[in-house]
Amino acid sequence: MYRAPRGTSDILPREQGYWSYIRQKAAAICELYSYQRIDTPTFEDAGLFVRSIGEETDIVEKEMYTLEDRSGDKLTLRPEGTASVCRAYVEHGMHTLPQPVRLYYDAAIFRYERPQAGRYREHHQFGVEALGEIDPALDAEIIDIAWQFYVNLGLDGLILNLNSIGCNVCRPAYLDTLRGYYAQHLSMLCPDCQRRLARNPLRLLDCKKASCIPLADQAPRSTDYLCGECADHFDQLERYLALLNLPFIVNHRLVRGLDYYTKTVFEIAPEGEVVAQATIGAGGRYDNLIEQLGGKPTPAIGFATGIERLVLNLKKQKRAVPEPVSPSVFIAYLGQDAKEEAIKLVSLLRRSGLSVILACGDRSLKAQLKQANSTGARQAVIIGEDEIKRGTVVLRDMDKGEQQTIQLGEVVKVLSRS
Ligand code: HAM
Repeated sequence: MYRAPRGTSDILPREQGYWSYIRQKAAAICELYSYQRIDTPTFEDAGLFVRSIGEETDIVEKEMYTLEDRSGDKLTLRPEGTASVCRAYVEHGMHTLPQPVRLYYDAAIFRYERPQAGRYREHHQFGVEALGEIDPALDAEIIDIAWQFYVNLGLDGLILNLNSIGCNVCRPAYLDTLRGYYAQHLSMLCPDCQRRLARNPLRLLDCKKASCIPLADQAPRSTDYLCGECADHFDQLERYLALLNLPFIVNHRLVRGLDYYTKTVFEIAPEGEVVAQATIGAGGRYDNLIEQLGGKPTPAIGFATGIERLVLNLKKQKRAVPEPVSPSVFIAYLGQDAKEEAIKLVSLLRRSGLSVILACGDRSLKAQLKQANSTGARQAVIIGEDEIKRGTVVLRDMDKGEQQTIQLGEVVKVLSRS
């Protein structure tokens, strides 16, 4: 028997209420903040992601789904959304539009990870990106969208972690200091961190291993090494977040697992959750990425949130989501002539805007009414041989169990009123 591949899920009808609720709230907040939808291909040139996310990252080193197609092109199923949006920005000359260009997406994302609760090989992200502006007010806008989105979903008890990891000017000196600090404690580091120290020392700060956490806590802080421009940017952002009443914690261990970030980085997670897969949303600035991909120097910032993790948290917090809508009418029939009349009636009712389910097969009336009940339809129309002869139907109120006979020609009018 085939099963869904490891780390992937079917989203069954009973789960869809959560998904449509989240997607409606996402579209609504984007309309409010004036972000426009963009859809990019499910796969891209592998090089796009290697270049953007960085060769030393977990994603590029071990998580990408890369294949060679029949013409020998190397393609990768997108392991995140930002690189594709930047590629599209450059490809379609969006720098000629009024800046910043505000975009959002909702897309399947693929990473070969070790599956567990909240971590999958295929997951879905809702993300927003604002491209073409350096003003820290835009950082505040993106963080505000993320926060208000969670508030609108009804999620409580979230913590916003914030940091600045500097830019090309100030980061090299910070990285040297960090390497020097960790070199003194090499034997205490986990094997992964020992390996990463030379090439990607920032990642040591967010190692979740018990032996590495105290070292990271004591490590030099990026915010103490910011250049004037990055320090001003961070100060202003903190001021703007305070103006927006957004509670945040400056967390100097927050660095993110993708290499393109500059200056602002942030993550939002349920309070008290320490594991990496608890984070529900994250983002930051990536002021060099568009230039790296062949565009003009273009500052940008964005954020993405995992929809599966939102569903998990909505369930954990027992948030009710709207129930699926039941059909208005169920049509039962007895005999072939009645069935043909029923098929015509269903079509008429649907064209008048009513959602209708037609019984199938040759079941008894009792079985058909049981089925009507299970669909949640408020009204049932019953057509039998006698009704056909008289040009009538029986209309049954499913809640009250009351029945009345009406003219076939009146059904659309009567049901449209009820
Ligand atoms: P990310 O932190 O890798 O960032 O992913 C964003 C969110 O996607 C995470 O906070 C989490 O909710 C969800 N997520 C990530 N991996 C998985 C997984 N394996 N299973 C389930 N959910 C997952 C990015 O991807 C950046 N592109 C975000 C960004 C946008 N930065 C700037 N703009």
